[in-house]
Amino acid sequence: MSYSIRALEDKDRDAVAAQTCKHWTLTRLGYIDHFIETYDLPGFVAEDNGKVIGSLTWRPYENCLQIVTVISDEEGRGIGGALLSAAEAEARRQKFPRVLISTENSYVDALKFYQKRGYVLYRVHYDVMKDLRKQKPSIPEIDTNGIPIRDQIDLIKDIA
Ligand SMILES: CC(C)(COP(=O)(O)OP(=O)(O)OC[C@H]1O[C@@H](n2cnc3c(N)ncnc32)[C@H](O)[C@@H]1OP(=O)(O)O)[C@@H](O)C(=O)NCCC(=O)NCCS
Repeated sequence: MSYSIRALEDKDRDAVAAQTCKHWTLTRLGYIDHFIETYDLPGFVAEDNGKVIGSLTWRPYENCLQIVTVISDEEGRGIGGALLSAAEAEARRQKFPRVLISTENSYVDALKFYQKRGYVLYRVHYDVMKDLRKQKPSIPEIDTNGIPIRDQIDLIKDIA
């Protein structure tokens, strides 16, 4: 690996916002019944030759470190996994007992990715995408794999 993982700094915010918008149109992401503005959140970046090629943002939520976004521009190089590890180390440092991460029911690749890294299914927020879509119409009805985007699924990992 030739990239490095470091804390997100103010100078990274526009690059991270551009990555976020590429995947979710806006820097505001819907979660259950509210929107989270990601622009100012703390986090980590993966940097290669001065370029941000991955990012993770988090916030405190329900006594967990909640990972709000994790994005890799170069999939399969371990960037996503390295960003998760950085967030878990941060949770340990800040004495959060758990890391929480959410995804939509349709995103089966992410469900596989998180479970292989020790996250377990925790709860389903049934049919919440309908109301979130009313406030953010750019959320698609159907994922690129053909699965209707309907629910959010929380996964957690206990931090020893
Ligand atoms: C989910 C995501 C962050 C993973 O990032 P990543 O840098 O590919 O992560 P890693 O390289 O650590 O691991 C990815 C896994 O998929 C495999 N993989 C993914 N893309 C691959 C590719 N193009 N070629 C080969 N393997 C690939 C890796 O081998 C690895 O498999 P493993 O789980 O068996 O170890 C990335 O796919 C992404 O940015 N998705 C879009 C944004 C998103 O929806 N984020 C999640 C919700 S916030």
